Amino acid sequence: MENKDLIKLAIEAKQNAHVPYSRFKVGAALLTKSGKVYQGANMECSSYGMTVCAERVALVKALYDGEKEFEKIAVVGGKEDELTYTTPCGACRQFLADFGVELEVIMGYMEDNELKEKVFKLKELLPESFEL
Ligand code: THU
Repeated sequence: MENKDLIKLAIEAKQNAHVPYSRFKVGAALLTKSGKVYQGANMECSSYGMTVCAERVALVKALYDGEKEFEKIAVVGGKEDELTYTTPCGACRQFLADFGVELEVIMGYMEDNELKEKVFKLKELLPESFEL
């Protein structure tokens, strides 16, 4: 799947965010090596620290289905439209790293009806990641 198509699925996922506190919606779309896509959006809690990020919602859905090998993840976010890049937080980077630091992380946003993207390997975003 092309990066732009995965970004579009992340934008779609963002609509399902539950963000009564920050109003900052994040969407993620995680592509498995078997070709399936799992979408996630951030889910906020009144006890703020219990909020679950979009990336981890997508990852946990995939893990529940027995998927453990991932190719790439697209992440988008913003208060209204995607106005700039949204980068995965440290906790999400570590959770994703547990399944392989070769994962491609695609950050995207929309500018004048055109999709912009920036791509990293997870190992660039989380060097020397913790391993058990
Ligand atoms: N958020 C994500 O969903 N993913 C990230 O990687 C960074 C932050 C969410 C958490 C919270 O609901 C909102 O963005 C503002 O921090």
